[in-house]
Amino acid sequence: MKKAEIAIIGGTGFEKMFANTEKLHVGTPYGIPPPLFTGKIGEKNVVFLPRHGPEHSIPPHKVNYRANIYALHQLGVERIIAVNAVGAINKDFKPSDIVIPHDFVDFTKNRPATFYDEAPVIHIDVSQPYCPEIRETLIGCAEKLGLRLWNRAVLVCTEGPRFETPAEIEMFRRLGFDVVGMTGVPEVVLARELAMCYAVLCFVSNMAAGMQERLTPKEVYDISRRVQPKMEQILIETVKALAVERRGKCPCANALKDARLKQC
Ligand code: HPA
Repeated sequence: MKKAEIAIIGGTGFEKMFANTEKLHVGTPYGIPPPLFTGKIGEKNVVFLPRHGPEHSIPPHKVNYRANIYALHQLGVERIIAVNAVGAINKDFKPSDIVIPHDFVDFTKNRPATFYDEAPVIHIDVSQPYCPEIRETLIGCAEKLGLRLWNRAVLVCTEGPRFETPAEIEMFRRLGFDVVGMTGVPEVVLARELAMCYAVLCFVSNMAAGMQERLTPKEVYDISRRVQPKMEQILIETVKALAVERRGKCPCANALKDARLKQC
């Protein structure tokens, strides 16, 4: 099977940005992920995983995050760039803005969130949850394209599939969170558990609940269509700019070193 160096996990439709895409069906011990699309960006072999399935039929709380990340690991992927639509909690952020979070808070409730359910006991370090090398490259590429960009933000992940209440958003704002989404966790954690680099490129699709009259998925979809070309440009430039080999300056590749409580 062809090894892919880099994966992009995102919404439906991004596969069109690759040259000569091939569809790939894979299985994992955790279940079957959506069909993957392999292709090339520049010289790099890239795989695209549509998180919600090719027809966007899997809701955020039903995504099989473990199967998705494990499938990419099986293909030899070492670096993942994820794409998320988010609502803005921070009042300075506006729809269509690009956001590259540096930290997250987990408000999900009911998702298998680890590969390490049994002995040996593993505690993974997420002091720096997103790969600093990918973040730096994403930020550099977005800046070069002259886009409105927030290069630090705390992302809170909620369970969904409903949007939040105004009181929840007000609480999140008082706690210092900047953006809210439904799919960022446990994806980021599972990638680190398998020592893969992971960073997320977000776009603001709406002001969060209570900051605008009502929220609709149509609005999220319409903004996502509008920002898709610039998201694709950032992704293409970032994939091209990343070195073929990981430079080892991030905490990701060594995530399992010292993560085991003791020899069982
Ligand atoms: N809340 C949660 N997830 C989201 C939102 C939101 O306002 N917008 C896009 N994804």
